[in-house]
Amino acid sequence: MFEVILSSMRDGAIVLDNADQIIFANQSFLDAFSLSRGDVVGKRLLEAVRIPELAGLAGEARAADTPIEKEITVVYPEEKIFSCSAAVIETEEGEPEVIAMIFHDISEMKKLENLRSEFVANVSHELKTPLTAIRGYVETLLDGAIDDPENNKGFLQKIDKNAQSLSALIDDLLQLSSLEARRGIKPFTDIDVSQVIVRAMETLSGKLKTKEIEIVGLENCPVTGDENLLYRALLNLIDNAVNYSSPGSKVEIACRRGEKAVEISIKDYGIGIAAEHLPRLFERFYRVDKARSRDQGGTGLGLAIVKHIMEIHGGSVRVESEEGKGSKFTLIFPI
Ligand SMILES: Nc1ncnc2c1ncn2[C@@H]1O[C@H](COP(=O)(O)OP(=O)(O)O)[C@@H](O)[C@H]1O
Ligand SMILES: [Mg+2]
Repeated sequence: MFEVILSSMRDGAIVLDNADQIIFANQSFLDAFSLSRGDVVGKRLLEAVRIPELAGLAGEARAADTPIEKEITVVYPEEKIFSCSAAVIETEEGEPEVIAMIFHDISEMKKLENLRSEFVANVSHELKTPLTAIRGYVETLLDGAIDDPENNKGFLQKIDKNAQSLSALIDDLLQLSSLEARRGIKPFTDIDVSQVIVRAMETLSGKLKTKEIEIVGLENCPVTGDENLLYRALLNLIDNAVNYSSPGSKVEIACRRGEKAVEISIKDYGIGIAAEHLPRLFERFYRVDKARSRDQGGTGLGLAIVKHIMEIHGGSVRVESEEGKGSKFTLIFPI
């Protein structure tokens, strides 16, 4: 009876006799460990799968009254983490008892857990950097620099700049978390893309004064979505185009309607990005040059926000770049 149940389970399952020999293995188990039935049935557990953590588990289950659980890591054919539980199965009077072992794949959950704790560590570090600077300047002022008319204002300006970094970071974090939870997204409407570009440029007008901005091919660019989110995405991309290029250089903003998608692109002639960085560019806190990013007031979250916004629209974002020549970021809205 239990063979029927075990066969249909998505978790891997095996049954061992009282000599630790495998008398049954379901298909999920064979798939998970890349084994064939012949490799397994009639073999002792450690012969079939060479995982030392499993040694003794069956014995422990026999000794205990309750199921025993253990986490095991498998490296072949791919790295996977299983939560393995072993329990004695009651059998008919006189029949030898058997042990059932269930292998539940927890790799995905572990990966998410790791990502989460890595993110918390990153956030803490990013918060700490400006805070440490602020405390340093405050201390310097208290130690007497407050009476130094040549420098005291400069220190206050540095404190102000770092406080602004902190609030930019917190704004971006809050934005990212509401995007992830898909909170506060407005019903999609038809968007006038040129108007949104103008709005983003107005917000950045202070920075844009030193740049030559060219807007090309904006006619007939129908996009459906949340206007405010599109504004956020464009703001981040135009901000980057300006931050990572020298004064006086050109930024081109274009919108084209293709057969399958509408593409909005922002192209700059700035420092560009080396190919090795491109695969990780949209990760949270990934920056090519941390110091330069911080100096421009960057949080390292802008592109992660853009990526999320495009996912919410069923679209994507693409980057083409050459170090020293410039970059082009394209928002793709499928029609
Ligand atoms: N237009 C661009 N030109 C060159 N590098 C860019 C450009 N846009 C983004 N980058 C690189 O990608 C990194 C991540 O961008 P983003 O997520 O917006 O964070 P940041 O706050 O640092 O601007 C930047 O730190 C920079 O190294
Ligand atoms: Mg940015």
